[in-house]
Order: sequence, then C-alpha cells, then structure tokens
Amino acid sequence: MESLYFELGGSKVIERIVDDLYNRVLRDQDLAPFFANIDPVLLRHKFCTFMNTVAGGPYERSGLELRSAHFGAVNEGLTDSHVDKFVAHFSEVLNEAAIPSPLVEALIARVNEFRGDVLGY
Ligand code: HEM
Repeated sequence: MESLYFELGGSKVIERIVDDLYNRVLRDQDLAPFFANIDPVLLRHKFCTFMNTVAGGPYERSGLELRSAHFGAVNEGLTDSHVDKFVAHFSEVLNEAAIPSPLVEALIARVNEFRGDVLGY
C-alpha cells in the first residue's frame, strides 16, 4: 500500500493543507490567543515537517517534543476541547481539499494519537 504521504499528493499538497489549517485556527477566537507570540511562518514549517512524518513521508523529525512545545499552552489553559476544535478544523480543511474520506479518517486518527503528548497527560 502506498504511504499516506503519496496518497495525499506529496509535500506541496501538505503545505497547502497546513496553510489552510493555520489560517482557520488563527481566525478561531478560542484558539488564536494561544498563538499570540508564535511566529506563524516558523510554526507552519514545523507543522509541515511533522505532517510529512505523520503521513509516512520522507522527512524525519528527530527528537520531536510535542509535550514541551505545548507546555506553555497547557499552562495557559489548553484542554481537550481546544484540541477537539483544532482537529475539527483539520478535518474540514482535508475535506475541502477533496482528500478522500478514508484518507481523512486515517490522518485524523494519527493526529489524535498525539493528543496525550500535546496535553501532557
Ligand atoms: C493533536 C493536536 C495537535 C498537534 C498534533 C500539534 C502539533 C504541533 C507541532 C508539530 C508543533 C511544532 C512543534 C515543534 O516542532 O517545535 C506545535 C506547536 C505549537 N502548538 Fe500545536 N498541535 C496540536 C494542537 C494544538 C492546539 C489545540 C493548540 C492551541 C490552541 C496548539 C498550540 C501550539 C503552539 C502555541 C505551538 C508553538 C510552540 C512554540 O513554538 O513555542 N497546538 N504543535
């Protein structure tokens, strides 16, 4: 079976999806405050690298520390409900990009696997 990365259309498609995701997240009043002091260009880049890895693409990210990356946000009150909204935006972006629904489900399931790390449980 081809990897999710190639099924998605490779890094260009992933870059566009990540771009759309952040545009949505930064317009969401509940989520945007957590990103107030974060360089959006750098964050998009980091998230693209992460997505490429999640989707089984050729880029490896060593020492990915989701826990420490979100430590500040958790201290500022990040909860499951924020992650739910974030994941819902992600799902909508994938659907809008006409990604087939089995692929959307597979990606959402993989992103959800990192929920515990993001929230530090
Ligand atoms: C399962 C859901 C999520 C995943 C997989 C995820 C993934 C990531 C990744 C890969 C990074 C970059 C880490 C790095 O390479 O340094 C990051 C950074 C960040 N995320 Fe998330 N994220 C999720 C949910 C959220 C939510 C819901 C919020 C807030 C509403 C959030 C806020 C942040 C912030 C503020 C940073 C920047 C940290 C920094 O650079 O100091 N994340 N996230």
